[in-house]
Amino acid sequence: MTSDAQTSDESQQLQDRVNNRSQRPQSEAFKAFMAAQWAPTEGGEHPRDEVADFTPRRRAAVSERFAGERIVIPAGPLKVRSNDTDYRFRPHSAFAHLTGLGVDHEPNAVLVFEPAEHQAPSAWDTAHHEVTLYFKPMAGRDTEEFYADSRHGEFWIGPRPDLAEFEQRLGIRTRDLDQFEAALSKDVGPAASGGTQVRLLREADLNVDALVDTARAEASMDLEASDALDAELTEFCSELRLVKDDWEVEQLRGSVAATIAGFEDVVRALPRAVGHDRGERIVEGAFFARARLEGNDLGYDTIAASGNNATILHWIRNHDRIDPGELLLLDAGVEADSLYTADITRTIPVSGSYSPVQRRVYEAVLAAADAAFEVVRPGIKFRDIHATAVKVLAEHLDDWGLLPVSLDEALSPEGQQHRRWMPHGTSHHLGLDVHDCAQAKRDLYLDGVLEPGMVFTIEPGLYFKNEDLAVPEEYRGIGVRIEDDVLVTEDGCENLSAALPRKADDVESWIARLQA
Ligand code: GLY
Ligand code: MN
Ligand code: MN
Repeated sequence: MTSDAQTSDESQQLQDRVNNRSQRPQSEAFKAFMAAQWAPTEGGEHPRDEVADFTPRRRAAVSERFAGERIVIPAGPLKVRSNDTDYRFRPHSAFAHLTGLGVDHEPNAVLVFEPAEHQAPSAWDTAHHEVTLYFKPMAGRDTEEFYADSRHGEFWIGPRPDLAEFEQRLGIRTRDLDQFEAALSKDVGPAASGGTQVRLLREADLNVDALVDTARAEASMDLEASDALDAELTEFCSELRLVKDDWEVEQLRGSVAATIAGFEDVVRALPRAVGHDRGERIVEGAFFARARLEGNDLGYDTIAASGNNATILHWIRNHDRIDPGELLLLDAGVEADSLYTADITRTIPVSGSYSPVQRRVYEAVLAAADAAFEVVRPGIKFRDIHATAVKVLAEHLDDWGLLPVSLDEALSPEGQQHRRWMPHGTSHHLGLDVHDCAQAKRDLYLDGVLEPGMVFTIEPGLYFKNEDLAVPEEYRGIGVRIEDDVLVTEDGCENLSAALPRKADDVESWIARLQA
């Protein structure tokens, strides 16, 4: 509703006042004219998305695991940034994975697996479910929504898909979102009394959570037991992404290539940033321009950390000066239109060459990363990567006389003093989320065994803060991390980000070449 000139301020509800600046005419003549004389919306066939050859296997896995149950996977709603301004929409990663949708598709959409046994399922369905994507299709140009709805209307935000478009592109049955509530609530109840058990990917969309809770309460279902069912679905969706298919690996290769181009842009921008009071912002901006140019967005906020800021693990304020002679730790990733992201770090001498102590620290971190790469192959445990990297760091710290105890004592579980200078993990899975598969069981993650197709980071670092009185002064204010993205292959691994120089000498000549 728009504001009404006859309503006094006292009687107008607060939530209606958001439209007080609207000056849209309300006359019938205006409405009639707005609804007429628009060219018809372009129809036609939409070619099938490549990903549609890969998503049926993912949906089949969900169907197999939860046969006989209604499975509900929301994309999530638009999120308010301030007042009536939303963040750019980004769907939940489980929804993106199971539908194949990327970019800003599609606020409020929900993927529903309805139990139905099929001897020979059609291309749209699975052995145990009928699968339907519910979303709000674009309204016609003869509707008020077209010009009056600033969140959905084509006049405001541009064309959006209609039901036929997603059906053709994704190979999934589509229905209008206005049919979702009835489909969700139908016959909800304990299986033992002939009802349909629902499992929900919780916390993706609080409105859907409330609908499910209401349906369960009306069926007198135990809410705590239902929460446990939901948690199993969340866990399964996370674990389903531990091994990437070929399409996902191609997406990650694309994200890595765009990220490398972004790092090159930053090196070219460095002469402008060095000596600038907000030099870190120049770096952040240069990378962001590449992320928007080649991808959908950043996969996470860029860490553009100069000098001592490099010792702050998630420094994203990026508002500081860059001074000559400092190191710049740049941790950044381009998220592709498919929403797969890279996650790469390089630590760069801003004046073109490392000082002796910077190089000493850099080469220790590189040795730790190289040692970790050496052990990666199918069959080893994920946690062995970290153990390998930190052992090498501990050895260097011992050589430099920084450990307060013997190397053996530090490496024992009761010691671990070396971790003062690297309190984070060495690796995390990478994919649709920068920290992908985060809800997977410990047995499959930290204690999991590597398989071909897994993608994760190797990212050791050393961080000596200005305030660190446990190290000699020459080390203080130096933070180094080297982070690469790794694909497990049949007999070892591939460094997906190998095209970005890693050795100190190579980094220096790369800078010289790009700034020539
Ligand atoms: N960019 C955050 C991380 O490396 O995990
Ligand atoms: Mn990382
Ligand atoms: Mn990172």
